[in-house]
Amino acid sequence: MRRLAATAILLITGCNRHQSALAPFGAEADDTLSLTIVLASGAAVIALGVVLLVWNASRAREHALSESGGLRLVLWAGAIFPTVVLTVLLLFALPAMRPLPESDADLRIQVEGEQFWWRVRYAPPGAAPLMAANEVRVPVGRTVVFELTATDVIHSFWIPGLAGKMDMIPGRTNQLVVRATKPGTFRGVCTEFCGLSHALMAFDVIAMEPAAFDAWLAEARRTERASSGRGAQAFDRRGCGACHAIAGTPHHAVIGPDLTHYSERLTLGAGILEPTVANTAAFIRDPSAFKPGARMPAYAAMPQAEAEAIARYLKGAP
Ligand code: CUA
Repeated sequence: MRRLAATAILLITGCNRHQSALAPFGAEADDTLSLTIVLASGAAVIALGVVLLVWNASRAREHALSESGGLRLVLWAGAIFPTVVLTVLLLFALPAMRPLPESDADLRIQVEGEQFWWRVRYAPPGAAPLMAANEVRVPVGRTVVFELTATDVIHSFWIPGLAGKMDMIPGRTNQLVVRATKPGTFRGVCTEFCGLSHALMAFDVIAMEPAAFDAWLAEARRTERASSGRGAQAFDRRGCGACHAIAGTPHHAVIGPDLTHYSERLTLGAGILEPTVANTAAFIRDPSAFKPGARMPAYAAMPQAEAEAIARYLKGAP
């Protein structure tokens, strides 16, 4: 029944399965969908009942209902019935509001909202942290604690298929506990207006089998990096390292997104473009053309070949 209802809703909404609260891949979003289906079905039954009452009333003779009969109807349909229904719904919904239990042994992922991208820091218990940006990977079946804050203005962190929304507020850390239930590639978005490119502030979410996640984390920590090629030299010379970090090189700046794992990313510019060499070069030369209000300056005078060399370097070339 639940699957049928979810399928029907998906058909209506165009089958978006990678960014949809109607196609959950997490425990909390699962509860939210069940609640939605119960509420929508209940509302449909009540609406049908009201239509029947109106239909009945429109066909009844005048004075068919005595005064005491009318009062009884108002008492039952207007007071007792709604009180019972709302109480039952409240009892049904309360457990879904309780946050998932978490402990110090759980993986923490700190995410900071920036205009208009996401700073990500994995903090696995008992191991060194790992910096990333604009992409979040979570192990399936394990509890993950997101610690959310913001640098500049209020943003809001929402992975519709995984859990509810949580505000990111400068000077404050909000916690969101999640557990992914199936692997796949999904999408999260900023859901609080935060400036010109608010609607262009998204990120990729990759839910991985636990063993694959552990292997990825171990691999991502290896930081040897050849940095003698043309792209690496251009990256140096143009001062890209004043804002961006690439682990394993002398560049450790934290103003812009960490670019260490750029070659693995599924998107460019926080979920807005395919990260091809051509798109990356175009973004380097004029970020505001793709992301109005972006803080990164334009490098309009940079020759195309040089921008492409940097792009190839970021994509993993030496
Ligand atoms: Cu960040 Cu809207």
